[in-house]
Amino acid sequence: MNKGSNGLSQRVATCFSAAADQYHSYDVLQQQTAKRLLAQMSPCKHLLDIGAGPGTSFTHLNGLEQVTSLDIAPGMLRILATNFPEYLAVCGDAQNLPFASASVNGIYSNVALQWCDDLELAISEANRVLTAGGEINLSIVAQDSLYQLRDLGFKINQFIAPSRLLACFDTDLWHIEVCETQAVNVYFSDLKAMLQSIKGVGAAIVKPAKATNLPQVTLRGRKDWQALQAKAELSRAPEGLPLTYNISFIKARKKR
Ligand SMILES: C[S@@+](CC[C@H](N)C(=O)[O-])C[C@H]1O[C@@H](n2cnc3c(N)ncnc32)[C@H](O)[C@@H]1O
Repeated sequence: MNKGSNGLSQRVATCFSAAADQYHSYDVLQQQTAKRLLAQMSPCKHLLDIGAGPGTSFTHLNGLEQVTSLDIAPGMLRILATNFPEYLAVCGDAQNLPFASASVNGIYSNVALQWCDDLELAISEANRVLTAGGEINLSIVAQDSLYQLRDLGFKINQFIAPSRLLACFDTDLWHIEVCETQAVNVYFSDLKAMLQSIKGVGAAIVKPAKATNLPQVTLRGRKDWQALQAKAELSRAPEGLPLTYNISFIKARKKR
């Protein structure tokens, strides 16, 4: 890992590495957002995937010659190297990209940058490594996500407001082509499966000084857990228990 790594980054790396082997059993949200993000991308020659996890197929992009996959979690990169041996896998932090300026033509980042302490720095790094005219396609978990868990008494990480996300893009450097926030619901058979979905992708990480992600509810025994389950059941839909993620999608082009 490079010198930009801080305490949070180290914990993010450890958690996501531990989840790497089972990641694809739980990545329902990630697959939904990837579908939308992949559909809005323009062709490019050299693509950088930031927070690549176990890797994404970009075969639909015409003329793509090289994919560089960056992730802070070595465990994710180990799986990625098996899934996509043709990609260049690099361990590093989005806030301190270990790449030369103007070295890639496109950037893709699917639900990864919400883990950055300094999102503005990550966006400025993305601008530095892009060639002029290159585009970033980004999805990020935004404000008011996971409200069902919050309503059950779980403390949830603070996610960025869409207006603050947009403000990270310096309009002297970027032309914003798409900026939309959309609620994406994922459904579960029960509360246990809902909680496991967060842990299963490695996202049960406590962010310091703000709020935490997973259980802050004090469960003193079976009865407390049953009461919590009963409360969760009140929001059941025909598809199952819903968990809502507000996802901001951005497509921005580096100005010439
Ligand atoms: C929810 S996973 C998404 C993985 C993949 N993009 C996908 O679509 O399935 C988030 C990934 O971002 C990585 N990540 C988190 N913070 C990072 C940072 N500061 N720099 C690089 N990667 C980071 C994690 O290690 C994890 O693999």
